[in-house]
Amino acid sequence: MVSREIKTILFDAYGTLFDLASIDSALSELYGEKAQEIARIWRQKQLEYSWLRTLMGRYVDFYELTGDALAYALEAVGLESSSDGRKALMQEYYRLKAFPEVAGALSRMKGKFHLAILSNANPSLLERVVSFNGLDDLLEDFISADELHLYKPSPAIYQLPEKKLGLAPWNLLFVSANTWDVAGAAACGLQVAWAMREPAVPEKLGLKPDTIVKSLDELATLLER
Ligand code: LAC
Repeated sequence: MVSREIKTILFDAYGTLFDLASIDSALSELYGEKAQEIARIWRQKQLEYSWLRTLMGRYVDFYELTGDALAYALEAVGLESSSDGRKALMQEYYRLKAFPEVAGALSRMKGKFHLAILSNANPSLLERVVSFNGLDDLLEDFISADELHLYKPSPAIYQLPEKKLGLAPWNLLFVSANTWDVAGAAACGLQVAWAMREPAVPEKLGLKPDTIVKSLDELATLLER
């Protein structure tokens, strides 16, 4: 159960606020029946590259890393790709749609809590996708892994909001749909809500969220109690 001491709610971006499936129609138009496999490999490689680059000490920003993961995914399914073609597809990252309940749920939380994003994405990427979805007035801060040139689940990233906002970890509620991200934040003592949009297996890392909700609406209701 989350406690009453929350001052700031930090949202993960991809899968939590913004739906990566928004790219599916562009992928289908371009690649037909291979689209699903490309999407799956692309997302998996994007995560792997964020972890590998952090371990290797070879940071590039999230937009570049995501483009590299796309190049890998296309090659893995046997497709040739041009850098212009990949650039065009990468534009979709600026136009990812927020999940349908996000704006309403954030409006319910706004005013009672300071709302921010804590994401691997570089700030310019976050600013554009937030603006595209008209969420600028609801999300007050973007805290980005780009500041430290490390990616989640590096503890330093989850500790960044404490430093920047001058709050204790228990004053922060981190919300993510990504199981590994839930574990990463719990390991750093933040309060954690797992937004389990789809049924998923929790990580076996010995760390649990404080609460599990199916949507941000459900979280808003929980916080109103
Ligand atoms: C992020 C990815 C992990 O926004 O969803 O950091």
